[in-house]
Amino acid sequence: MANIVHVVGTGTIGEPLTGLLCHFKDELGIDEVTFNKRTPLYTDRSKVQDLLRRGAKLATGSDATSGFEKLGMKPAYETGEAIERASVVIDCTPSGAGLANKEEFYSKASGVKGFIAQGSEFGFGKMYARGINDSTLVAGEDRYLHVVSCNTHNLAAIIQTMACEEGRAMDNLVSADFVCMRRANDVSQDDGYAPSPQVGRHKDGVFGTHHARDAHHLFQTLGKDYQNLFSSACKLNSQYMHTLRFHLRVEKPTSVEGILAQVRENDRLALTFKKSANQVFSFGRDHGFFGRILNQTVIPHETLTVVGDHDIYGFCFTPQDGNSLLSSVAGAIWLMDPENYEDRLQVLGRYFFPEV
Ligand SMILES: NC(=O)c1ccc[n+]([C@@H]2O[C@H](COP(=O)([O-])OP(=O)(O)OC[C@H]3O[C@@H](n4cnc5c(N)ncnc54)[C@H](OP(=O)(O)O)[C@@H]3O)[C@@H](O)[C@H]2O)c1
Repeated sequence: MANIVHVVGTGTIGEPLTGLLCHFKDELGIDEVTFNKRTPLYTDRSKVQDLLRRGAKLATGSDATSGFEKLGMKPAYETGEAIERASVVIDCTPSGAGLANKEEFYSKASGVKGFIAQGSEFGFGKMYARGINDSTLVAGEDRYLHVVSCNTHNLAAIIQTMACEEGRAMDNLVSADFVCMRRANDVSQDDGYAPSPQVGRHKDGVFGTHHARDAHHLFQTLGKDYQNLFSSACKLNSQYMHTLRFHLRVEKPTSVEGILAQVRENDRLALTFKKSANQVFSFGRDHGFFGRILNQTVIPHETLTVVGDHDIYGFCFTPQDGNSLLSSVAGAIWLMDPENYEDRLQVLGRYFFPEV
């Protein structure tokens, strides 16, 4: 059977994901890449045409087919048909649309090996972040994966590396507190720019915001019931990268040198002497895959400090779409080839940087 990966949505995540899958199709063991776009627009024609040039095939609803054709884009499949014939569907829609798609389409497509949705779709399936909880994936059983949000990737990677990496007990973490300073919108987006910092409510009575709540659920898949995670979020008037400030309290005495040694052993974490999001973002533009590095966090290590042997403080930057791209690709390849997915993913190794 052909391995077909179908991406739903061509936004900030769907567009680069479709391009990446096309680019590394052979190495990843994919035979065909298809993508769904609902709306025919002149402004989006260039991106659709380029994805078609790169080998992807377009799907849309039957009501939109003639609209695409009038604009010179030829759909190959109807929305439902593209889902049914796929091996794996990666939903890249926001605001509950992925959950609605699960209800309307995915739950009926019994021939598809699995479905993946992104950060906003809480409840879609087993929470997943590449490198954090791969060991919990059960072939033939886990058909719905929920790739956690970009900041959740970041704070989970920080917890995993600084408080519970191999050699340290998983229960070394006493508590963790995060402030997610989010960029206002993506450079690809016109809407939602914030003219000044905006602070967010603590909507979750236990965890503060969804970031710590989702990290809690992610670690739960590993059998850890961290109740003492807390996060706050604010939006900054920047379009570059999210910045995270963390405070971890650990059980066993630690030191900056010890933490840096742990970080250096984990290729999903990068260190940097740079102190601004625009410098880190700019590095990605020049050295990443179409501008993206795939590290889950970039730590300006000069900001790292340990107080009284147990309290770790620092800042880090979130390469937001790189996180989601990596886990989406890893999840999709795992669903198609659980035995060999680790080997196949090595083709992306070049986009992990020990130093930014
Ligand atoms: N932006 C980031 O940096 C980032 C980082 C990590 C995770 N995420 C997560 O990734 C997901 C997508 O976010 P995004 O920023 O990529 O969104 P986006 O830029 O707004 O793009 C959303 C896309 O989804 C399509 N869409 C919307 N509703 C749909 C529906 N009901 N059925 C089919 N297609 C639909 C739109 O397609 P049409 O053009 O066809 O209308 C659009 O292309 C969210 O869960 C978000 O939390 C985003």
